[in-house]
Amino acid sequence: MLKEMGLGPIWTLRQPPKKKRGAMAEPEAALPVDARTAAIAAMGWDELKQAVADCTACELCKTRKQAVLGVGDINADWLFVGEGPGAEEDERGEPFVGQSGKLLDAMLAAIDLKRGHNVYIANSVKCRPPDNRAPEPSETAACWPFLARQVELLKPKLIVTLGRPAAQTLLQQEVKIAEARGKVQDFAGIPLIITYHPAYLLRNLPDKAKAWEDLCFMRRTMKERGSSPA
Ligand code: URA
Ligand code: SF4
Repeated sequence: MLKEMGLGPIWTLRQPPKKKRGAMAEPEAALPVDARTAAIAAMGWDELKQAVADCTACELCKTRKQAVLGVGDINADWLFVGEGPGAEEDERGEPFVGQSGKLLDAMLAAIDLKRGHNVYIANSVKCRPPDNRAPEPSETAACWPFLARQVELLKPKLIVTLGRPAAQTLLQQEVKIAEARGKVQDFAGIPLIITYHPAYLLRNLPDKAKAWEDLCFMRRTMKERGSSPA
């Protein structure tokens, strides 16, 4: 199954870089990377939730209040992937519950979708990066096996990435949203569409029109592939 989804080779690419001699000590994964990855790849939802709650595989574990696995319908056709929890998400344990979340909910409503109904929402990293900084590549790499397992358990019909970190995590390449949007990309055989992050849209209102185009494009893509919107 892993091979079918193309996850094996991607994981190898994503292993965090080896610690440099003399570099500051970082929290160690409880298991060697390969064993940890394999263990996560075999987990069901309950185990995954517990593993994320207990995870100390990257620095972000030190400053989080709680890890935020994701929220929604585990039979969803639509998977939205953001960047990482902010302060309110860290407080409440649910993704996209702050200002960006209000906009995301409005974006979903615009195409007749609703949080929790045929929609699952997750993030590239499960713990809040302090001071609202972007997650480091080593952090998204350490957290990747969890998102990979979520994708595999969900088997969504469409993945929507919100902002650059999510797109880059899933596609494993440099992404410029302005160039990459409006096309159907591929993640291990699952169609993937890139759009702007709601937090970016709140700061760049003119690009909301482009986000609206992207939403229409997503809905069209799903219809063409025979999936009803909600
Ligand atoms: N921004 C994100 O990328 N994810 C959240 O969960 C909240 C804000
Ligand atoms: Fe673990 Fe991910 Fe949290 Fe890092 S961000 S501690 S890898 S759950």
